[in-house]
Amino acid sequence: MTDALPQYPDKREAPPESVLAFAELLRRSSRVVAFTGAGISTESGIPDYRGPGGVWSQGKPPTIADFLDSRDTRLAYWERRRTSYPEMVARQPNAGHLALSRLAEMGKLSVVITQNIDGLHQDSGLADDAVVELHGTARQVQCTSCGTRESGEAIHKRLLAGADHPDCLQCGGLLRSATVLFGEQLPREPLRRAVAEAQQCDLMVVIGSSLVVQPAAQLPLVAKHGGAALVFVNRESTQLDAHADVLVLGDAGHALTTALDLMEGTPDGP
Ligand code: APR
Repeated sequence: MTDALPQYPDKREAPPESVLAFAELLRRSSRVVAFTGAGISTESGIPDYRGPGGVWSQGKPPTIADFLDSRDTRLAYWERRRTSYPEMVARQPNAGHLALSRLAEMGKLSVVITQNIDGLHQDSGLADDAVVELHGTARQVQCTSCGTRESGEAIHKRLLAGADHPDCLQCGGLLRSATVLFGEQLPREPLRRAVAEAQQCDLMVVIGSSLVVQPAAQLPLVAKHGGAALVFVNRESTQLDAHADVLVLGDAGHALTTALDLMEGTPDGP
C-alpha cells in the first residue's frame, strides 16, 4: 500500500494572459527599445512624480527660471543635494533594470530611452551608449555659462567641505544639476537618437511612465507609426493605452522578469 502524496494545486499562479502575450512579442522581436519612466525606479526606493505620494504631490516642479533668478532657490537646491546625494548614490538597480540588462545580453535590446536621471540603467550593466537620457542626469552638475561638467562626487566633496553655493571652477559661472528642468528644451542629440531608435524598432516596451510630459510622450506613437508593436507596463492606465498592443498592469520588476523567463522557456516558463 503506498501513501499517495496529497495532491496540492500548483501554488505558482499562471502568468496573466498579458504577460504571456508580452513574452511572445519579446520572443518574436529582434530590435527592442525600452522607454522608461520613474515607475521603473520606485522598486529601488526612488519615488515617482505623479503616482501616489509622488514628488510633485509634495511641491511644484522647479523651473530653470526659478533656479537662475533666485539665489535663495539655488542655496536651497545645494543644501538639499548635500543631504540627499549619499542616499541617491546608494540606490541599487531593481529586478526591472536587471531584466532589461538581461535582454541586452541576449542581443534583443537595442537601447533604453529613459526619462529618468538616476543612472540606474547604467548601474545595472548597460553600456553608456545603450542608454539615452532624455532628461539628463543627476549624477553630474554643469556650468550654465561655459558648459563645463563636474562629477556628482566632486561637487559633493565641495559641499561637505562647506561650499553652500559652489560655482564653476573654470569660469566662476553658476553651476546646476545636469538635468532638464521645466521650461527648458530637451538636449538635441539624445532626442534625435531617441526618435531614430523609435522609428527603427520592432517592439517598444513602455515601462513606468504616465506619458504626460512632452515631447517624450510622443515616442511610443513614433514607434507605432514606424510599425512597431507596443507593450505598456504600468501599475495604472495612461492616456495612450488605446495605442498599446499589450497592456501589462502590475509592478515592472515582476512583469519584466516573468516575461523574460517565459520567453527563455526557463523552468517556470511554459
Ligand atoms: N511598476 C510599474 N509602474 C509603476 C511603478 C512600478 N513599480 N511605480 C510607479 N509606476 C507608474 C505610476 O503609476 C505612473 O503611471 O509609473 C508612472 C510614473 O509616472 P510619473 O511619476 O509621471 O513619471 P514619468 O512618466 O517618468 O514622468 C516624466 O516628468 O516630472 C517630469 O522630468 C520628470 O522625467 C519626468 C517626467
